[in-house]
Amino acid sequence: MKESLQQILNEARERLEAATSLKDTEEVRIKILGKKGDLTSILKSMGGLSPEERKELGMEANTVKAQVEQMLKNTQEQLKAAAQEARFKAEKIDVTEPGKEFHLGTEHPVTITINEISEVFKSMGFTLTEGPEIETVYNNFDALNAGPDHPARDWTDTFYINDQVLLRTQTSPVQVRTLQSMKPPIRVFAPGRCFRCDTPDATHSPMFHQVEGLVVDEGITMADLKGVLDTFAKKMFGSETRTKFRPHHFPFTEPSAEMDVSCFKCGGRGCRVCKGSGWIEILGCGMVHPSVLKVGGIDTEKYTGFAFGLGVERVAMLKHEIDDIRLLYENDMRFIEQFK
Ligand code: DAH
Repeated sequence: MKESLQQILNEARERLEAATSLKDTEEVRIKILGKKGDLTSILKSMGGLSPEERKELGMEANTVKAQVEQMLKNTQEQLKAAAQEARFKAEKIDVTEPGKEFHLGTEHPVTITINEISEVFKSMGFTLTEGPEIETVYNNFDALNAGPDHPARDWTDTFYINDQVLLRTQTSPVQVRTLQSMKPPIRVFAPGRCFRCDTPDATHSPMFHQVEGLVVDEGITMADLKGVLDTFAKKMFGSETRTKFRPHHFPFTEPSAEMDVSCFKCGGRGCRVCKGSGWIEILGCGMVHPSVLKVGGIDTEKYTGFAFGLGVERVAMLKHEIDDIRLLYENDMRFIEQFK
């Protein structure tokens, strides 16, 4: 048995010296120290020996066991250290290697324009508000005085989700939400996406942006509307800008108007941007119709208000002389990057 112990020790040593992986060392451990391992069987078979023999052999077996365990531990540590070394070598960073090119995106011209418009209205004491892109038919049309027979309700213009829900065709439903949730004095603007079932061409996109504005207070008149929107035009397009209000019709305002600004490209002499007229139509506006105020529970004896809505893409296109709205939505970086 003593010889067997010596043999076991030798075998362990040889095999561990040859081991190249932790798996090899584990095999050695199982072969010698495992439940059915060589050394374990020797220990088990010692029952038949005399007490003295058992004591002597037991001590020897335990020494061998301790030696094997120590060798296993050493080999495993060496192998782990070698593996780590190899990994460090493989992961070595070459600090002289040129960096990877990192392409930073830029703000989209529509975002830039919304931000510019927002800054102007904020500077005039307006606060930002928002409404959902998925709206009720009621908020988008009925509450805005566009009764069931209004042409804008025609299914060809509107993306209906069902009888009562649609993708808003304008930001004006934010007026309804604001009137229902705030008390005068109200002075808000609301930028956002709108959707219309239009075939894309140079001036139409089924998704576009508007900025809505709403002011309600005691004694608000058309003069306030003109003052605010004229100031907006001058801040947005330059202090030389003149404005002109033309009568128009919107169901939710009375009276209604469209505002033109003197062409910021030619100063009003007539050019390609203003199509020779010297004027550019920029927004719709008007005094909030009493029936719209009533939907919000506003006392129409006491309060009046004005509202306006402008198309963001139109402003962006005019300012930057972009002649096709589709360019804004093709996301060609060579185009988008020009507006930073
Ligand atoms: N919602 C109108 C549109 O999409 C624009 C508009 C006109 C908004 C007059 C207004 C307004 O608030 O008073 O054409």
